[in-house]
Amino acid sequence: MTEAENPASRVPALFTPLKLRGMALSNRVVLSPMCMYSAEDGTVGDFQLVHLGARALGGAGLIITEMTNIHPHGRISPGCAGMYKASHALAWKRVVDFVHGESDAKIAVQLAHAGRKGAVPRSWERGAGGLGDAAWELIAPSAIAFGEGSATPREMSHDDIADMVQRFAQGALWADEAGFDMIEFHMGHGYLLSSFMSPLANARDDQYGGDLAGRMRFPLEVLAAVRAVWPADKPISARISAIDYEEGGNTLDDGIAMATMLFDAGLDIVDVSSGAVTSQGRPKPVGLYQTPFSETIRKATGKPTMTVGNIRSAEDANGVIEEGRADLCVLAKWHLYDPFFTRHAAVELGFEMPWPKQYAQVERMLKG
Ligand SMILES: Cc1cc2nc3c(=O)[nH]c(=O)nc-3n(C[C@H](O)[C@H](O)[C@H](O)COP(=O)(O)O)c2cc1C
Repeated sequence: MTEAENPASRVPALFTPLKLRGMALSNRVVLSPMCMYSAEDGTVGDFQLVHLGARALGGAGLIITEMTNIHPHGRISPGCAGMYKASHALAWKRVVDFVHGESDAKIAVQLAHAGRKGAVPRSWERGAGGLGDAAWELIAPSAIAFGEGSATPREMSHDDIADMVQRFAQGALWADEAGFDMIEFHMGHGYLLSSFMSPLANARDDQYGGDLAGRMRFPLEVLAAVRAVWPADKPISARISAIDYEEGGNTLDDGIAMATMLFDAGLDIVDVSSGAVTSQGRPKPVGLYQTPFSETIRKATGKPTMTVGNIRSAEDANGVIEEGRADLCVLAKWHLYDPFFTRHAAVELGFEMPWPKQYAQVERMLKG
């Protein structure tokens, strides 16, 4: 069969499906997790419904919620989303049901604990001092502050660690009740799980510190506890900081080793980010600056990866998938700018993507 006779060969790589366990994605575009600081005691509401719903109507194959915390003291700010009480599942269910009912998108929850980066004001309230009396005690692998001006956390005891493992597992049970299709752990950017993984934040001399195997022990215990209660047909992802950009921190070789350990323990896909483990180690966001890390990890492990960072065009996104540099393209800020990125990319790449029934007139308009 020639290429012209085979319509499948004309489907741009970005619009090919992907299956992870029982979760079938209709395309490779993902809404990146983004804190919106608009929850009340962790409870999400109309803002998240409209914000996430718009990106689902916009055609993204997978929506990932903002960092959603398994403990009230695991929030970055008082406005952060939670999965630390039963009623949170009900609030999230409204968002999940909309996404499932009105679009082809799947939806994942990013489960997290902010660790030593918590207890600060909402992003737009920063600069005018901290939370004052409303601040809570921070916990972390070691009593090392995130940066100048950050509060010093308390070193976690073994009881604290065991408690957090259970809270992640409980969060997963509520996530299932809410109907989420996938869990993504936030194991990057210096939050609690990430801070255990980096030698820049973890100076412990017990079994939860030391070499990479020791530093990975707590994240791997969390993964095992969640995998045990999360339905077998639903996948699990982890966002990692593949590299710390600092002397004495994790290198890309460590990033490959972390991903390998997570895959060996049952992870389905790794969401490859970088840096932000300390206040100094930040990447320069030039070009597709993080895609080489995804590409390297994908080739080294032979497992699926997501790439994120500065993806702004249909051409770049399609190229990443076509060239095998990642299995999914994750867009954050560009999705704030253009909630309909996926549909616009389809038009640009010449792919006929069905529009929501309510918007059918657009299809007619585009065909002239
Ligand atoms: C407003 C905002 C909030 C963010 N919150 C999160 C978050 O909750 N979890 C996370 O893993 N990354 C978070 N990030 C990082 C993004 O998901 C993404 O990795 C980063 O912005 C780079 O991608 P981009 O160049 O497409 O924006 C946030 C970014 C922005 C702009």
